[in-house]
Amino acid sequence: MDPILEIRDLSKRFGGVEAVKAVSFDVPRGSLVGLIGPNGAGKTTFVNLVSKHESPDTGSVLLDKRPIHRLPSFKVARAGLARTYQKNRLFFEESVSENIRTAMIWGGAAKHQDLSYPGLKGKEEERTAELMEFFALTAQRDALPSGLSHLHRRRAEVAQALALAPKLLMLDEPFAGFSREEAFDLIDHLKVCQKGGLTMLLIDHNMEVMLEVCEYLFVMHHGALLASGTSAEVRANPEVINVYLGAET
Ligand SMILES: Nc1ncnc2c1ncn2[C@@H]1O[C@H](COP(=O)(O)OP(=O)(O)OP(=O)(O)O)[C@@H](O)[C@H]1O
Ligand SMILES: [Mg+2]
Repeated sequence: MDPILEIRDLSKRFGGVEAVKAVSFDVPRGSLVGLIGPNGAGKTTFVNLVSKHESPDTGSVLLDKRPIHRLPSFKVARAGLARTYQKNRLFFEESVSENIRTAMIWGGAAKHQDLSYPGLKGKEEERTAELMEFFALTAQRDALPSGLSHLHRRRAEVAQALALAPKLLMLDEPFAGFSREEAFDLIDHLKVCQKGGLTMLLIDHNMEVMLEVCEYLFVMHHGALLASGTSAEVRANPEVINVYLGAET
């Protein structure tokens, strides 16, 4: 395997809560992997640690063999790792096109020659226009986030993350509140980006969608990595079944 991301022994404690406990795993280059687990399992904290929105207590993160765990978050983004947020983080005073453009400028001139998904080529205007067209946001270009539908806001968040021209994109519940059709529409767009070389780590609670879409899954529970494997392996794992049945009863 050629890992684009190598996580080793990542831990974070908040007072008495061990939010992430010695998590280690690799993400293969070009893959779409899933991170699942019940509420409070530590998934968002894990993403916050990798993207350096929080500092880990222990552990290391290599992106393309380069250590990124000591970099500030903006340098992690410039190194090629972007993420979306469980809670909306668009700039509320900027229009959709300004939100995308701001991310592009802020991300700097990161150009990864081996990538070829929408929004990578040309000047900022062209890249912004291409991303808006790709996510069917052109009619919303001048709208503020507060004026967007939930669907458009979510798409704008993904477009904004892609404006950073990442090699790896982590998406924290991007289709929360979506219908199945809306979720699969976004997945179709993400798969186009995957064909262009983007690697993705996806978090979501919709098991049906995750098991169908992700090539490989990592399961967290109480901060620790409980299991990992293909959809079939995860589906058949007694510990995973236990956690999910336990969580629902
Ligand atoms: N900043 C913080 N301060 C204190 N505790 C925190 C903080 N962030 C997260 N936690 C705790 O860490 C644990 C993991 O939370 P986290 O949000 O990472 O879980 P999650 O898997 O993303 O859950 P969900 O599926 O509900 O989004 C929880 O017990 C949470 O209360
Ligand atoms: Mg979360």
